[in-house]
Amino acid sequence: MIKKTFTGIVFIIGLFLLLSVSINFIKSTVIFKEEANRGKDAYLSFNVSPFLQGFQDNNSPKVNILSPKNNGFYKFSTSIPYAVSVSDAEDGESMYNEIPSDEVLLKVEYVSRVTLNAKKFQQEPEDDLGLLDMAASNCLYCHAFKGNLIGPSLHQISELYNRTKPDMGMISSRIKNGSSGYWNNNVMPSHPELTDQEIELMVMWIIQNASQKDVNYYKGTEGTLELHPDTQYDIKDRIFVISAKYRDHGSKGDSKKIGEDHIVINPEE
Ligand code: HEC
Repeated sequence: MIKKTFTGIVFIIGLFLLLSVSINFIKSTVIFKEEANRGKDAYLSFNVSPFLQGFQDNNSPKVNILSPKNNGFYKFSTSIPYAVSVSDAEDGESMYNEIPSDEVLLKVEYVSRVTLNAKKFQQEPEDDLGLLDMAASNCLYCHAFKGNLIGPSLHQISELYNRTKPDMGMISSRIKNGSSGYWNNNVMPSHPELTDQEIELMVMWIIQNASQKDVNYYKGTEGTLELHPDTQYDIKDRIFVISAKYRDHGSKGDSKKIGEDHIVINPEE
């Protein structure tokens, strides 16, 4: 009985492999002919690896801050319109609304010119994985970085758990199973689609980043930003760095990639 089942399984696997090879052979023959028609070196396009077919390398998205202008001068606390374009071979173009605007994130940082020269924009895109996960989920509809929406601001949550030791298990289970009555009487829905690892990345990101001074975040390919630092440094020593990020949706067989752009802005009194 076991032997028969085994033979059966081997037979089915064999049949599947044969089918896959023949389909790809037909496909490659078509490519072969097409390329030959175009006078190219047809032999090169013959596909020798049928099992890898359909799995493509994912291209990195290209992110471009269109406005404000790099190196421009702007006054504190005025609303400055910004626009970001994203172009991704797999996901599409932001100008045709093919990129989910809410997944494009803008970070405005007030940094010392000396640090900036030393860093030369060497930011780690991986630092913001938790934030990018939140942008791809529904979190930022209810949680602003600063200021209350339906949920408490990320800034508030971060400040609380920088003062008191966070109970990671409790916070994660509130996100996973939903919560009400701890911060306010609104309802946070459950998020059964998220893995424990994704939730942990999000919570760690909030705790570590959301109460940093002189940093603010915006979402969307267009909007207005404000140069509104928390500290009072001499403006001769400080500069604003604006960075935009988008993480694409990956491709079959290849993981998601992050695209980024930076500009600097000089503050004016
Ligand atoms: C529909 C609105 C809504 C959405 C969507 C939402 N939240 Fe919440 N969130 C809330 C509310 C309301 C609270 C306060 C709940 C309470 O008082 O018990 C909250 C509380 C929290 C807290 C504090 C929990 C604690 O234990 O202190 C964290 C962290 C949090 N949310 C993260 C997230 C993340 C991450 C996501 C996305 C995966 C998310 N939220 C999506 C409304 C929302």
